Amino acid sequence: MPFRNRVTEMLGVDIPIVQAPMGWIARSQLASAVSNAGALGIIETSSGELDVIRDEIRKMRELTDKPFGVNIAQAFVRDPNIVEFVASQGVKFVTTSAGSPMRYTSALKAAGLTVFHVVPDLAGALKAVDAGVDGLVVEGGEGGGFKSPTPVSTMVLLPLITSKVDVPIIAAGGFLDGPTMAAAFALGAEGIQMGTRMVSAAESPIHDNWKQAVLAARETDTVFLNRHTKPALRALRTERTTALEFDTETNAMALFGRAMDLYFGGDMEAAIALSGQVAGRIDSIEPVADIIHRTATDCLALLTTLAHRYPT
Ligand SMILES: Cc1cc2nc3c(=O)[nH]c(=O)nc-3n(C[C@H](O)[C@H](O)[C@H](O)COP(=O)(O)O)c2cc1C
Repeated sequence: MPFRNRVTEMLGVDIPIVQAPMGWIARSQLASAVSNAGALGIIETSSGELDVIRDEIRKMRELTDKPFGVNIAQAFVRDPNIVEFVASQGVKFVTTSAGSPMRYTSALKAAGLTVFHVVPDLAGALKAVDAGVDGLVVEGGEGGGFKSPTPVSTMVLLPLITSKVDVPIIAAGGFLDGPTMAAAFALGAEGIQMGTRMVSAAESPIHDNWKQAVLAARETDTVFLNRHTKPALRALRTERTTALEFDTETNAMALFGRAMDLYFGGDMEAAIALSGQVAGRIDSIEPVADIIHRTATDCLALLTTLAHRYPT
């Protein structure tokens, strides 16, 4: 396999692309398509609906015989037995995010899981390595979703962290195609994670209005909200989120009360459509397999072209 590296070895995949965990979206329909394409599908737990998640994991086993992982978004964990829950699902790979790496790493590793922790800065990366994680997901501030209130772009963050730690790194924030994947590899990553590109994939279960809004978005059409109170987040610009952009009093999390009306009802003003700046580069809804295979093929072709063009 041309991509053979620590990430493909640890995840058991041919293509080191990971589909981002995303509440209500990263479920079996999307994740199985990713795993079947040779990359790694991830099932979310940030919705907190663990009974549904258990069922989704069961469906994964019907839809794919390939590996997949689970994410624990720590800030949203309501069940104190989340480690036992994840360990009992028979998955081998877990990402932990939105919280301290000290909290679950030992217990997850003791249960035999490979653990990657999501980090937004160097201090977080060093702390996670100290906690004993197997690898990191290094997430730049241009990405969609919940964010550090002091976001650092992937271009600065990724080479900084890869130069300071030895564990394998999956880069997140802004990835969608061969050139961005090749750039991640040039900056020291051994894999990439795609969030917004997967939100807008054909197999993504969200309402078509959200997908169309991603297609219509320019690179300037995301807003960074909640810098004044945790968690900060990056989302698509709508009338409602634009009004919140410089609001230092409202907690934007209150808007998630009607999330289902947005996610599955298509009312873009009902809640907050988490998305990254890369929305400005997405102009088609495509099947997951096409996205993944084209990204992998173009990445390899580009790395070869560059090696010829700039011979040592
Ligand atoms: C709709 C949405 C929901 C997300 N939910 C989660 C989550 O539950 N857990 C998590 O670790 N990251 C979450 N993220 C962040 C993604 O995992 C990913 O790192 C990010 O989207 C990467 O940037 P990109 O959007 O530029 O691809 C979410 C992102 C989006 C767009």
